[in-house]
Amino acid sequence: MSKITTSGAYPYHRPRRNRKSDWARRLVRENILSVDDLIWPVFVQEGSGQETEITAMPGVMRRSIDLLLPQIEKAAKMGIPAVALFPQTPEHLKTEDGREALNPDNLICRTIQAISQAVPEIGIICDVALDPYTSHGQDGVMIDGYVANDPTVDTLIAQSLVQAEAGCDILAPSDMMDGRIGAIRESLEENNHINVQIMAYAAKYASAFYGPFREAVGSAGNIKSGGKDSYQMDPANGDEALREVLMDIEEGADMIIVKPGMPYLDIIQRVTAEFSFPTYAYQVSGEYAMIQAAAQKGWLDLDQVMMESLMAFKRAGATGIMTYFAPYAAEILTNNS
Ligand code: PBG
Repeated sequence: MSKITTSGAYPYHRPRRNRKSDWARRLVRENILSVDDLIWPVFVQEGSGQETEITAMPGVMRRSIDLLLPQIEKAAKMGIPAVALFPQTPEHLKTEDGREALNPDNLICRTIQAISQAVPEIGIICDVALDPYTSHGQDGVMIDGYVANDPTVDTLIAQSLVQAEAGCDILAPSDMMDGRIGAIRESLEENNHINVQIMAYAAKYASAFYGPFREAVGSAGNIKSGGKDSYQMDPANGDEALREVLMDIEEGADMIIVKPGMPYLDIIQRVTAEFSFPTYAYQVSGEYAMIQAAAQKGWLDLDQVMMESLMAFKRAGATGIMTYFAPYAAEILTNNS
């Protein structure tokens, strides 16, 4: 039997009664969005005093570590629980095998160290994937034109350990290789990193909504379009997402991600209904770009559409949201409380 009941019909039930005033609406509200729900993805680049705006992401900056730190400090003060770091690797350090990912002194490791020193109260999430480091822009090692699964997993294990050693709190494998969660978990256990969490990009789709991100990390020129279809998921598939999520949970993930966000709300809903496991929606670069572009044209109200889009993730069942809007949304949430 359905949980949804009405014991009578109109006019005994007038759903508008519960909407008659602000206090009444607040009293029956089913979902709450709070600063605790927000994860802020940030872009970092080499140098000092450097700040570059991403063309298709108005308001989003890629910063050198010195300029990033005060921003992270501000985010922590507002109560944002965690940041996700994405590096722009200088072109001359990119190679076929992406070996810069394993350099303990690379940009991402230095960023982790700087943040954990300056802002120890914020959680640090790092992508585990090779695309910022490979000359071809793929997330793994290429053998005969194919992103080879098992050799890539070996490299991802090494990358995970390097980032864990640097002080990363949450490893977020975004590469979509098979078996990497179990392999990474095992090596964390063996190397005394038992409390490093894994936030698995379990259902990550081969999406054109990642376009602006690839500009931000400087991999756009390296990658051919459609180039990730052999490892990221087909946007036509829903059931398969449940199998991917189940595998990652069984392999030892602590949390999982569905990505992109808004076009895949059905997946978030199905995954959370099925597994009741900490599940995060990633409102990706292209979603941010769409909302900003329409707002800049005066076609949509930025604040309202942003908050509505974030609430939609909560309603779908998401535990939290990775969003480039995080600091701006936090400001609104703080001012309204
Ligand atoms: C790379 C990675 C991507 C994003 C996060 N990690 C891009 C990709 O898979 O090509 C996309 C994030 C965004 O678009 O905001 N492993």
